[in-house]
Amino acid sequence: MFHPFHVEQFLSELEHGVKYNYSESGVHPMKVEELIKLTGLDPNTIWSTVLDYPQVNGSTLLREHIAKMYEGADAENILVTAGASEANTLVANTLLEPGDNMVAFRPIYEQLTGDVRNRGIEVRYVDLDPYNDWKIDPQALMDAVDENTKVIHIINPNNPTGQVVSQEERDAIIAAAAKVGAWIVADEVYIGTERDTDEVTKSFWGDYDKVVVLNSMSKAYGLPGLRLGWMVAPKDTITASWRRHEYATVAATTLSMRLAEAALAEPARGLLVERARRLIRTGFETLTEALKVHQGVFTVSPPKASAMSFIRFDLPVDSETLCRRLHAEQDVLVIPGSRFHVENHFRFSSALPEAHLREGLNRLNKVVGSILETA
Ligand SMILES: Cc1ncc(COP(=O)(O)O)c(C=O)c1O
Repeated sequence: MFHPFHVEQFLSELEHGVKYNYSESGVHPMKVEELIKLTGLDPNTIWSTVLDYPQVNGSTLLREHIAKMYEGADAENILVTAGASEANTLVANTLLEPGDNMVAFRPIYEQLTGDVRNRGIEVRYVDLDPYNDWKIDPQALMDAVDENTKVIHIINPNNPTGQVVSQEERDAIIAAAAKVGAWIVADEVYIGTERDTDEVTKSFWGDYDKVVVLNSMSKAYGLPGLRLGWMVAPKDTITASWRRHEYATVAATTLSMRLAEAALAEPARGLLVERARRLIRTGFETLTEALKVHQGVFTVSPPKASAMSFIRFDLPVDSETLCRRLHAEQDVLVIPGSRFHVENHFRFSSALPEAHLREGLNRLNKVVGSILETA
């Protein structure tokens, strides 16, 4: 049976044309012009780029820039993909076979879990605790793994909750993987988007020998339209994924690789991360203020990273109804918790220009006011 990608289906059906869009997971995206200014790239580098097929596994320069972010890695540990999305598919294709199982945490952005289920492979979920900052129960994790567990999949920082694993949770994941010899597949696309610290979230790379890390230009760098991501893995796993990448897309695009080379060279990379954090921090403050308008309706575990807040609401409507009403009545788009299989929540992205954010929050509060009046 085919399992649709509930979040992406909701987005792709509704996001184009909506005026107040708070459903994206990244920060306000940049224009090519802004990126060129910020990186100091000579625009002629872009005009003179030959639109031939690029290096299939990613240009050497780009892979060298990426490898610098992962201690002990070199360019041969990197495969450049069409977004982290493709990297997720390659993981499913490379590491798992029928009869295996994968353990994952819920709520989750179900790109890898959905793909794995669609291949007829079992996914076992460990539920994160909504009343304790979405923490992992180490015993539940240990109970979920067995000798057929080939992958433990963690999104860190998490989508949709924005939480980051503690050292204790990290140790529990490594212990569970080591017990059964499983891979840890760490989707780290939100690293760099820390809200309450300047310390960068630690990668799983280097923590354990069987680790695959995924990342992308889409979140901390504000460049989702590049559709450029990567995988970091031991060299034989990179080779095996590269063989599958030749089937999937052949390569990411030539222009994206050029722009990503410029964006990941210092000081540009640092400046992009600073920009993302600035938007995330001010946006969350504005959101927090607006959520106080209707006392007792909203609660949120403040996200440690990312532009997203996974907000619990106490209203006599379900999350799909609330979000459909916001869309139909106020031209506002946020994602219902039901799309993450959690009720009474919605995901709201607030790393956006201030005035635009405030307008959408006023509109959200109007709909909440009218629900409360008729309750
Ligand atoms: C956790 C996670 N992984 C992967 C992706 C896909 O990222 P990309 O734009 O690099 O394909 C997203 C996008 O929202 C995401 O939230």
